[in-house]
Amino acid sequence: MQTVHTLSDLRAALRLRSGWALVPTMGNLHAGHLGLVARARELGAPVVASIFVNRLQFGPNEDFDRYPRTLQRDAEMLAGAGCDLLFAPDEAQMYPQPQTFRVLPDPALAGILDGAARPGHFEGVTTVVMKLFHMVQPAHAVFGKKDYQQLLIIRRMVEQFALDIDIVAVETVRAEDGLALSSRNGYLTPAQRQQAPQLHAALRALAQAARRATTPPELAAVERDALLALQRQGWAPDYLSLRRRSDLQPLSADDLLHATPGVVLGAARLGQTRLIDNLEC
Ligand code: PAF
Repeated sequence: MQTVHTLSDLRAALRLRSGWALVPTMGNLHAGHLGLVARARELGAPVVASIFVNRLQFGPNEDFDRYPRTLQRDAEMLAGAGCDLLFAPDEAQMYPQPQTFRVLPDPALAGILDGAARPGHFEGVTTVVMKLFHMVQPAHAVFGKKDYQQLLIIRRMVEQFALDIDIVAVETVRAEDGLALSSRNGYLTPAQRQQAPQLHAALRALAQAARRATTPPELAAVERDALLALQRQGWAPDYLSLRRRSDLQPLSADDLLHATPGVVLGAARLGQTRLIDNLEC
C-alpha cells in the first residue's frame, strides 16, 4: 500500500489506475472500517482510504482535540486489509485557506436527530466529503450504515449535485454483546463498556414496541417510554425515534397502517461519551 499526504502525490498515484473506490474515514480504525475496505475490494476496484479528522464537523465543545490519531497503526491495518492507497492529509493540505465555501445540506434532513443535537455537524461532513470526492474523483464511495443519517445525506448530495459516484452502504459491525463498533467506544471506562450494549438493546425493544403502535400519538408515547427507560439506566439520551427509512421523517398514520420501512435511531451519552446506533425495522 502506498501512503500519500499531499494532493499532488494523491493525484499522481490515482492516475496509475482507474475506477477507484474511496473509503473516507477519520482514522482510529476498527473492524467496521475494515469491513468498508472489504466491500470496496468486492467491487473489483482499486481502493483508496482517506484518514482526516475533520475539524469542520465538530462542535466547539466536542472531542476534536482528543479524537484519537493513530496513523501508523491505521496504515498497518489498511495494508493488511488489502487497501491500495492511503491519503492522509494534514490540515494545511485539506484546508490551505479557511474553508469559507461550504456545502449546505437540506435542513429537513440535516437539521433533525443528530443534526439537531450537533448544529453544523452535517455541513462539516458534506463539505469535507464533497472536497474528498473532488480530490479523488472515485467511481464508488463506501460508507457504513452505523452513521445512518450521514449516509442518507451523502446519497442526497450525490443525487442533487449529479455526481457520478456509486454510493455503497455497508451493514454495521457489532461486538458480540451488540455494541456497534465505533472509534468513540475507546473513550468508555471498563464499567461503561459493560453497560454500553444497553443502547442497542433499547433500540431493539423500541423497534418491537413501535411496530405495534397504530397512531402517531401512540408511537410518540412508546418513544418517550424508551427514552425514560434509558435515562433510568444512567444514560443522557438525545433521541430515540422510529423514522421513515426514505427521509428520516416521523411515520404518519398512513405509514403505520401500511408498515412503511422504518429505522429506529438513537443517540445517548454515557458519562462523557456520546454513542449513536440504529436498526432498520
Ligand atoms: O464517518 C466518518 O468517519 C466521517 O464523518 C467522514 C465521512 C470520514 C467525514 O469526515
